[in-house]
Amino acid sequence: MLSKGDERSLLLRLLVDVGEAYGAQGFVGVKSAHLSGISYFSVGDEGLAFLEDMSVLKVSVPTTCNPVGFVETPSERDKQRRILFALKKMGIRLTLTCTPYEAGNKPQRGTHVAWAESSAAIYANSVLGAFTNREASQTALASAVLGVTPAYGYHLERYRQPKCSVRVTCELSESDCGLLGFWIGEQGLSDPAFEGLRPPPFGLKQLGASLGTFSDAGIFFLERAKGRAEKAVFDREELIRLREEFSLPQTPDLVYLGCPHASAEELALLDSLLKDKPKIPILVTIPPDVEAKHGELVKSLVSKGVEVAEGKCLVVSNRAKKYEAVLTNSCKAAHYVFRLHGVRTGVADLRTCVRVAVEGHV
Ligand code: F3S
Repeated sequence: MLSKGDERSLLLRLLVDVGEAYGAQGFVGVKSAHLSGISYFSVGDEGLAFLEDMSVLKVSVPTTCNPVGFVETPSERDKQRRILFALKKMGIRLTLTCTPYEAGNKPQRGTHVAWAESSAAIYANSVLGAFTNREASQTALASAVLGVTPAYGYHLERYRQPKCSVRVTCELSESDCGLLGFWIGEQGLSDPAFEGLRPPPFGLKQLGASLGTFSDAGIFFLERAKGRAEKAVFDREELIRLREEFSLPQTPDLVYLGCPHASAEELALLDSLLKDKPKIPILVTIPPDVEAKHGELVKSLVSKGVEVAEGKCLVVSNRAKKYEAVLTNSCKAAHYVFRLHGVRTGVADLRTCVRVAVEGHV
């Protein structure tokens, strides 16, 4: 238990130590923060105690937060509720999504932010043009309260440069973009600049989520590969090898979509693809903001038998353990559901996921 007044100095000390470790020249002001690590499943009693200690403080910049897990027991429910209460007391918006840019936290190009949740941080750097490091939950919280972050890494233009270039010579679906992110990590590459990548809808989200899971990359570039001599090549042969590696050899008992959280456009595509009720349950996780603004779409999906869960994440939930095999269009979800819960997983694109769910077999 901290004594009164210690909380702010603890967070300042944390940012100073991180800044010193990375050779930061000072601090830079941030326009927003985004927190991960708010699921009781992930942080446990220690995390709960830390957040309750910190809840005497207030955030000084707009701050959003990640989804929580599905809670199973009354004790989990109570502890998860206490975490959310602590966040609310600090002035954090309970957006409960890993796509804060779909929930009113969309930074302007060139602004500095402090975002935890690697998939969101990479998306912010690469697609939105914001400046952020891949923050830990505690450093993001410190920045939320203090309004600054140490000036190092992706906050500095000279570090926002490609570290490798990759020529993509095949067409990719959104889940293939996730496989490409896996491949970058497998090759030991980082911060790639792509040539020839024509990202399909929702592909960049899957690419960023995979880079965050399987590599130390914090940014990718769609335009800066030209003129670079050394190029790794991602071709159809590699793609087929990875599709095979990530395939599911058995019928799934769940199709999981919405990792990272599905946008309204993804829900609309899912709705248009679903002509019949699925034989295999489909779970899709979304931001509460999308539910609030696109209620009709959600109702349509629910009427077709889809479970639409707002503000939730299957990965950080014991619920995942009750399945034998999960098919998903997200390499990140496939990786963590297997690693954390021991459940067999496979990856396929959205259209294939829907077909499997409707037909009832792979
Ligand atoms: Fe989001 Fe959970 Fe996936 S936080 S990125 S749905 S693992």
